[in-house]
Amino acid sequence: MAKLELKSLNKTYNAKTIPVKDISLSVEDGEFLSLLGPSGCGKSTTLRLIAGLEPPTHGEVWIGDRDVSALKPGDRNIAMVFQSYALYPHMSVFDNMASALKLQKLSTEEIRRRVREAGDFLDLNADLLDRKPGQLSGGQRQRVALGRALVRDPDVFLLDEPLSNLDALLRESVRAQLKRIFERQQAPVVYVTHDQVEAMTLSTKVAVLDRGIVQQLDAPDRLYTKPANQFVAGFVGSPQMNLLNLRCTGRETSLGETRIPMPSGIDAPAIVLGIRPEALRLASPEAASERCAIFSGAISRVENLGMYRLIAIEIAAETPDSTPRELRATIESSVPALGEIVSLAVDLEALHWFDANSGQRLGKT
Ligand SMILES: Nc1ncnc2c1ncn2[C@@H]1O[C@H](COP(=O)(O)OP(=O)(O)OP(=O)(O)O)[C@@H](O)[C@H]1O
Ligand SMILES: [Mg+2]
Repeated sequence: MAKLELKSLNKTYNAKTIPVKDISLSVEDGEFLSLLGPSGCGKSTTLRLIAGLEPPTHGEVWIGDRDVSALKPGDRNIAMVFQSYALYPHMSVFDNMASALKLQKLSTEEIRRRVREAGDFLDLNADLLDRKPGQLSGGQRQRVALGRALVRDPDVFLLDEPLSNLDALLRESVRAQLKRIFERQQAPVVYVTHDQVEAMTLSTKVAVLDRGIVQQLDAPDRLYTKPANQFVAGFVGSPQMNLLNLRCTGRETSLGETRIPMPSGIDAPAIVLGIRPEALRLASPEAASERCAIFSGAISRVENLGMYRLIAIEIAAETPDSTPRELRATIESSVPALGEIVSLAVDLEALHWFDANSGQRLGKT
């Protein structure tokens, strides 16, 4: 077992696109790293560079004390699971799982033992092992693709959106299975996803990517509680964080009628104030105190999301074109009617402050 290390990894296709820009990180034994980001941010490209399916423009990939940058994919001892499963349709499930082991010239007995063991673990019984991939459901095919990676006992696992072809219910159960499987594995895992729930539930750490650049590399809960910049704040968390561009005067800023004191250590002419919808609660207008701010406005939208309602209120604001600011909040109790004026309270401690120019987090980290 060995750690995976990326050293200033770069990939450029042409002057316009920069799929991967200067990525340096390491994944230790037993660690599960997710690459999380929107479509086109460079997740799959990064994975392909690690696997050796494409050469980097510059930078290095290390596994333990080996620089594998110049090695062919087959010589890196990396197992990769693709979104499309990439199973051989004419082979049985057993042969699909055994194919890489046959190339390694292991004995028939050893191959049988490993495939059976992985099959047991993944609930692929003898009947399923005899079938062709075309005779399996999507979830079963996904387990075969995983099994094919697991039997190899690789130095590093790479998985590219392995659950994205499954329906929501199945995705949840396979996700739980994945967690169980990789908790037992020692080899480093790099897992690509654009689904924040997958990244948050499976990973020991997450790299959030935007335009090929790592925006934050951190433990899952820190992405939520201490987003490093405005991009991460807007990308992690659902419903999305309210992000409000505000000017500052003296030691305070304001939204509509509400004045908000700036915490010590924060000093900028213009800021972006972040408020999570779940940090807001219905309150009476008089509830304002040193510790919380109150915003009032008419309800412009109500969406029933089952467990709670997502409401939006409109706050008359000093925007150049006088368009009101919208503040979204999740409310568990019954919700007043559309158009009604309500007040929402937020603890000042729960506010996130970002520099309006750089987008970087301000204040305590
Ligand atoms: N062979 C190529 N030639 C030119 N540009 C490419 C090539 N492969 C990828 N790109 C570009 O690089 C960027 C990153 O692509 P990549 O496939 O890594 O994104 P991704 O994060 O995996 O997205 P998705 O979530 O949609 O799978 C995209 O803008 C893509 O168009
Ligand atoms: Mg991709």
